[in-house]
Amino acid sequence: MMKWKNQLTGMKPYQPGRSVDEVKKMFGLQEIVKLASNENPFGSSPKVHEFLANLSANHAIYPDGYASGLRHALAESIGIEEEQLLFGNGSDEIIMIISRALLQPGVNTVMATPTFSQYRHNAIIEGAQLREVPLRNGAHDLQEMQRQIDKDTAVVWVCSPNNPTGTLTNQQELETFVQQVPKDVLIVLDEAYFEYINEPTYKDTIGFIKDHENVIILRTFSKAYGIAGFRVGYAIAQQQLIHRLDPVRAPFNNAVISQDVALVALQDSSFINECRIQNEKGKKQFEAYAALNGLHIYPSQGNFVLMEVKADSDFVFEELMKKGYIIRSGNALGTPGYIRVTIGTTQQNEDFLLKLTDILTTNGVIA
Ligand SMILES: Cc1ncc(COP(=O)(O)O)c(C=O)c1O
Repeated sequence: MMKWKNQLTGMKPYQPGRSVDEVKKMFGLQEIVKLASNENPFGSSPKVHEFLANLSANHAIYPDGYASGLRHALAESIGIEEEQLLFGNGSDEIIMIISRALLQPGVNTVMATPTFSQYRHNAIIEGAQLREVPLRNGAHDLQEMQRQIDKDTAVVWVCSPNNPTGTLTNQQELETFVQQVPKDVLIVLDEAYFEYINEPTYKDTIGFIKDHENVIILRTFSKAYGIAGFRVGYAIAQQQLIHRLDPVRAPFNNAVISQDVALVALQDSSFINECRIQNEKGKKQFEAYAALNGLHIYPSQGNFVLMEVKADSDFVFEELMKKGYIIRSGNALGTPGYIRVTIGTTQQNEDFLLKLTDILTTNGVIA
């Protein structure tokens, strides 16, 4: 018998939404719209397309493990020092790096439930005790999360906007939380959907970094920048913290092309602004639909919504798939009775909601 970590027994790999090709084959469909993984329905900046069309990189050499070009540009655009950044193969890898660096048997980690699955997943692999605090109205219950912190707490995760609810953490409560959490507990603020936030009370969390050596912010090029396939995420923190985490990172974790594409994508802020505007429009389509049909929907600050379906989520998920739409069933996300849908283009949203209406009327949920 090989000496596997005990905690790996029964663990399943990450369950992604079904792939487009898979669904095409299963149901003999030509057209599939994937609204399952909160990717950008508008793809990426035209500058990225142009760059890729004229690509001439030397693929025989390893990438720059320090991602110097991207680091320089990103630090400048955020207004921080270059040494305050850590790049990951997606922010997924940063979650793994943080877990590997700080979690182990004998310590605990505090997070919301439901929230992004990878905090829990990595904590289990590292053998840390989980302390999961139920959301309150879809938002983090920071007071209870703080109560759960004790001398053995190593990391606390705050996902804002939270996946799968889309809710933004209350800014006043977050400020109090950051002030009160002991300095020897790392606070991870996962802002994968940062670029989509459109809430006037939102205060850029970069402000926390200056005064708090125990705060780290995670952001990504996978969502609004539309380059999930290139796998570039990053963390922002004080320099000492980044230096402690960096040895855990794999040496060449961002491919040459990925670094270059992220750099090009970063330069097109008007694309991001336009996507945010379109996302707001799309969100209103879903909100109007939910209001009209008496379905609860969480107030989202991301590019996805979690909406009630008053039916078995798996059933609605399957029926939508047969009609060519891939979404996420709330059953898989800890929110039964709901579906999580990525906000698509105006047309995609409209078509999707028509299909959803077919399913919900056939099953007597809506008249
Ligand atoms: C909250 C949150 N964090 C992190 C990630 C991981 O993103 P990536 O690894 O593509 O940067 C996701 C992806 O869905 C997410 O929703």
